[in-house]
Amino acid sequence: MSGAFEEHHRGSTWWRCARWLTAVGFFIFAANGVAHSFTETQAESGARIYQHQCGRCHKPNGEGKDDSYRGLRAPELIGGTALPCKPRALQKIRMSDFRTVKDVYEFVSATMPADQPASLSAEEYWNVLAFILQRNGTTADNKRLTDTTSREITLRSECAPGSAAVAHEAQL
Ligand code: HEC
Repeated sequence: MSGAFEEHHRGSTWWRCARWLTAVGFFIFAANGVAHSFTETQAESGARIYQHQCGRCHKPNGEGKDDSYRGLRAPELIGGTALPCKPRALQKIRMSDFRTVKDVYEFVSATMPADQPASLSAEEYWNVLAFILQRNGTTADNKRLTDTTSREITLRSECAPGSAAVAHEAQL
């Protein structure tokens, strides 16, 4: 469905603008024309969870750290190169694409924290994802980030569900 949305807008100013924003590292919401994000409360709670559960490997400002777990780099979670569509060449745990926030949730809730996988509640994982979205430049809209809304939030326009244009990522 969002594929059709994007097809429709491909030649438009909106689409060109979205491509430009993606190039400078902002997340794009392409949710069938409806933007969802998260609540302030989720992001605030997520900030605390992040500092306690994630920051020791991904660093307090999300810039990532080499050799954080069994020789693996904890990749950056904040900034223009965070959360790429495809796993990076040296990644060993992540095998899946990140197209929507739901994809990131599936990965994180099963595997993170890397030394204590699946140790948080579902709500805690959603809250920490709200914080990561916020730190990547999206603003709260006071609609809760949930299993349902997360399927409609695309991280990067070129990895939207149904998009074939993953190759563009190499230029980012
Ligand atoms: C003990 C260290 C450690 C902790 C703590 C940790 N991570 Fe990770 N994380 C890693 C490593 C290492 C990887 C890379 C996995 C791989 O190579 O596939 C990773 C990968 C990720 C990825 C995928 C990033 C990408 O670009 O592919 C996400 C998202 C993530 N972690 C989120 C979290 C969150 C959220 C928390 C806190 C709830 C957390 N991590 C806690 C070590 C950690």
